[in-house]
Amino acid sequence: MTNNIIEVKNLTVRFGNFKAVDGISFSVKRGEIFGFLGANGAGKTTTIRTICGILNPTSGQVLIDGHDVSTSTAVLKPKIGYMSQKFTLYPDLTVRENIYFAGSLYNMKREDIAKRARTVFDFIDMEERHIGGVVKNLSGGVKQMIALCATLLHDPQLVFLDEPTAGTSPKTRRDFWRLIKRLSENGKTIFLTTHYMDEAEYCDRIVLMDKGSIIACDSPEGLKKEFFKQNPIELYMNKPDYLIGVKAEFDSLGLGLSAVFGANLRVFPNDYESFKKFADKNKEKFYYKETSPSLDDVFLKALKSGGAK
Ligand SMILES: Nc1ncnc2c1ncn2[C@@H]1O[C@H](COP(=O)(O)OP(=O)(O)O)[C@@H](O)[C@H]1O
Ligand SMILES: [Mg+2]
Repeated sequence: MTNNIIEVKNLTVRFGNFKAVDGISFSVKRGEIFGFLGANGAGKTTTIRTICGILNPTSGQVLIDGHDVSTSTAVLKPKIGYMSQKFTLYPDLTVRENIYFAGSLYNMKREDIAKRARTVFDFIDMEERHIGGVVKNLSGGVKQMIALCATLLHDPQLVFLDEPTAGTSPKTRRDFWRLIKRLSENGKTIFLTTHYMDEAEYCDRIVLMDKGSIIACDSPEGLKKEFFKQNPIELYMNKPDYLIGVKAEFDSLGLGLSAVFGANLRVFPNDYESFKKFADKNKEKFYYKETSPSLDDVFLKALKSGGAK
């Protein structure tokens, strides 16, 4: 068995003439938390649905545990859990009924469902009073947690979560991430999509996707190193009035990229020596500190350059 649980090879998915996924290749290692990032329409959901075997590739290949997903549905179905971006529980059924229904889709026996339901409810710390309740009456956060229970019920080793925290409260997001970490510690492989850069920081590796293509793939730290040879520097003005003038001078000297962040100027110098001269000359106007690049910085630069330098 290879170390890669997923191998995607030159995958293209078309809807009519439109290429939603355009010849992408990557692999996911067993046990890692793998994050897919990209704007709406980038092709994240299409990629997930193809890896799960719900959509067929137009060309290319997806292997899970060495099995081609197009031809090995029966072998792979029990290994995969998929929490779709759209809410898929039945709103008029109770939580318990939804969970039994989810289990029946995997031909689980009632007593096995009961046992596993107990385990997953305990895992997410589900309050007992919710279990008999009708789903539509529950809060958005609890609904997401129940969708996660349904996804984990058959104990899949590979768990796909498509924007699991979109639109949920900060508390739910924190709770969700605590669970994702624990799933990963228990040896599960997690493949998720998110819009939140802070969540991307928690992933072992991330892919940045744009218009059906992968524009970068690495660990958060690796991406930062790849895209920023030089750390960004934050400039703190001694008087707020100095900000505009300092930016204008930095830009006119062609020292690198600059961006205003609140009262500060954030600069990405082309070379540190020239920046230092500039800073010495202006030392009565600002002081500065080297910072580390954020994933937002990486994403912007990747989109501008169409890939790593
Ligand atoms: N079943 C479909 N038929 C036609 N176009 C689709 C279909 N599913 C997705 N698309 C299009 O493919 C592109 C990628 O969609 P999607 O994979 O959902 O992106 P993401 O999840 O990154 O927001 C979008 O332009 C979307 O409109
Ligand atoms: Mg999507």
